[in-house]
Amino acid sequence: MSSAASQRGVFITLEGGEGAGKSTQIKRLVARLAARGIEAVATREPGGTPGAEAIRGLLVTGDVARWDAVTETLLHYAARREHVEKTVKPALQRGAWVISDRFADSTMAYQGHAGAVGAARVAALHKLVLGDFTPDLTLILDLPVQVGLARAKSRANTAGANTAGANAVEDRYERMGLAFHEALRKAFLDIAAAEPQRCRVVAADTDADSVEAALWAQVAQRFKLPL
Ligand code: TMP
Repeated sequence: MSSAASQRGVFITLEGGEGAGKSTQIKRLVARLAARGIEAVATREPGGTPGAEAIRGLLVTGDVARWDAVTETLLHYAARREHVEKTVKPALQRGAWVISDRFADSTMAYQGHAGAVGAARVAALHKLVLGDFTPDLTLILDLPVQVGLARAKSRANTAGANTAGANAVEDRYERMGLAFHEALRKAFLDIAAAEPQRCRVVAADTDADSVEAALWAQVAQRFKLPL
């Protein structure tokens, strides 16, 4: 891919419920790409620019009911617009690959399907804000809800000491209840079934090495890279 400097990079998103291990896997995927001479930028949503990171703070902390559902969706899309315009598109334009921890499918699943906004309004908002901008590949990490929530909780307990400020615990969505998280899991699987060209589901209920290998197999196959 060294001749890709003048060619648009590849946009990959990782999606899934809580505690799926996305951030660990993104580091590993970036390292595997680097080993093959491909520059990959790891980023996340909500976040990925200073402004979008500030919006993230409003969304992932505090009272579960702090936002009206539509306001919350608009905040996610405000953050996403910043991220796409200032981080994702410039990187793709210089030929880098971009690996994002969450993207638009999270809004569709969390606010559209599991939340109160509905899929049609999220789809309309996406069109308004980003047009047809879509990932080249979306990897959906799937695991039982209880397993994911338990993992997320233990991660928060160990990370808690390192977070800045007393209110910085990023667990607002984790506290949304089991029925919400079950609806979320189904929503991601439904999105994958509806868009098999773009989406691949990978079981995340195993050790990190196995998940890494399964993800890499999908990326290598999709973009014709050596295993
Ligand atoms: P995470 O980066 O640890 O996964 O946390 C981000 C949280 O924000 C996660 O609980 C999912 C939630 N979220 C939404 O509800 N909608 C969105 O569009 C995005 C990107 C994230």
